[in-house]
This record gives sequence, C-alpha cells and structure tokens, in this order.
Amino acid sequence: MLTKREPLIIANWKMNVLPNEAVSLVLEICKQVSEQAKIIVAPPFTHLSLLGSLNNDNIFLGAQDCHEKDFGAFTSEISCPMLKDLGVKYIILGHSEKRLSNPLENNRITNKIKSVLQAGLKAVYCCGEPLDIRESGKHLEFIKIQLQNDLPTNSFPNIENLIIAYEPIWAIGTGKTALNDQILETHEYIYDWLSDNYGKKLADTIPILYGGSVNSNNAAQIAHIPNVNGALVGGASLNPLEFANILNSFYLVN
Ligand code: PGA
Repeated sequence: MLTKREPLIIANWKMNVLPNEAVSLVLEICKQVSEQAKIIVAPPFTHLSLLGSLNNDNIFLGAQDCHEKDFGAFTSEISCPMLKDLGVKYIILGHSEKRLSNPLENNRITNKIKSVLQAGLKAVYCCGEPLDIRESGKHLEFIKIQLQNDLPTNSFPNIENLIIAYEPIWAIGTGKTALNDQILETHEYIYDWLSDNYGKKLADTIPILYGGSVNSNNAAQIAHIPNVNGALVGGASLNPLEFANILNSFYLVN
C-alpha cells in the first residue's frame, strides 16, 4: 500500500466556466484552503494562459487532454509541448467522457501517455467501468483489461510521473459516489496490478486517485480509504467553497 503523503486533488472543470470567470474562481479557492494545499486546476485549454499568468506557487495547471504527436497537420488538436510551454504540469488522459465521445480514443491512450511522460509532465490516466459491468460483477476484469491495454509494461519513459484515477463511469456526475468498500476493493486491485506488472517499488510511488461525485460531504471518508491518494473532482470543483472543503478534508487526513 502506498504510504500516506501529500494528496493530489485535481479540479476537472470539463467544458465549464468562461475565461473571464476563471481567475476569480481560482483565487476564491486559494482564499479558503490551508496554506500548504496544492491546487491543481484543469480548465478548458482557452483558460490556461490566464491562469498561468497568476504566477501563484500554490496553483498548478492541468489540461484535460492532448494529442500524441508534438506538431503537425492535426487541425484543432493541442500537443504536450504547447501545454508545457503554457506551464501545464498535469494532463488528464483517457477520461470516460473522451473515450465515449470517440471509440477510437481507446487506441490512442498509450501513445498519449508516452508523449506526456516524454515531455516530463504528469499523466493522469483514467480508468473505470460502466454500470452494466459493475452490476454484472465483472468490474475488476474490466479494469484489468483497461490497464493491460493502456499501460503495457516497458513502454513508458519517466513512469514515476504516472498518476492513475479510478473513475467508475456510473458515479461520474450522477451524485452516486461509489461505496467505500467498492473504492477500497478497486484501488487495492489497481495497486496490486501495478505491483505485479511494474514492481512494488514503483507501485508504492504511483498515486491512485478516486473520481466520481466527490463532494465536501464524502471527501473525508474517501480520503481515509487505503490506497486512495487524492481525488479527481468534476462538478464540485466549480464551487470554490465546495472544492476548498474537499482539499482541506484530504489535507487533514494526510
Ligand atoms: P464528477 O466528475 O466529480 O462531476 O462526478 C468527475 C470527473 O469526471 O472527473
């Protein structure tokens, strides 16, 4: 099991917030969190420059996706070097909303992770099962196939910069958080898979975040679950007080 250490709480704003609202939202969060808290915000691409110009040591920029190639004729796409140039440190990959909107996305995730790690950035890799799989009791098998497909061993540079987010699809944006036992079981499974495939030493360093309807009421409980090293927060991250309370809950436990 990963020993307790600084938690990682990432705000995934998805396609929300206008650029001109972004700065005040982040500053509002800053006012309400403990001084040592690391605030990681993944806004839409259009907001990154503005947030980067804040030059605040507690604020870290994340992006919600990237292309696997650095440059080229890929209209509308955005690459790791571009994001890095804007000060981005974390890139979310394989989010279920991205996977569902494009079935080919599944085949690109490994290369996207490679590109992010190659650039020296942190890859926040998302996995998680849909409701029918959870109800059939085959969720661990499903997660295993995702991990095997997306994280083939010996393919990544700087693997220590990998972060895994377990996000059961049925819990995302539904208000239905996974039960503590469900989170415990899956996080332990992911940790064991990492340990078996990448070695215990590395498994001990890779944070495993939980995502799916995390809010200020359930954050403290989730933060106590073994092998939970932080959270990926969608809806609740759009409310500064709510997000600040989630951050504070995790920092209190860790
Ligand atoms: P949610 O989203 O917190 O709104 O459930 C989490 C996510 O999709 O990362």
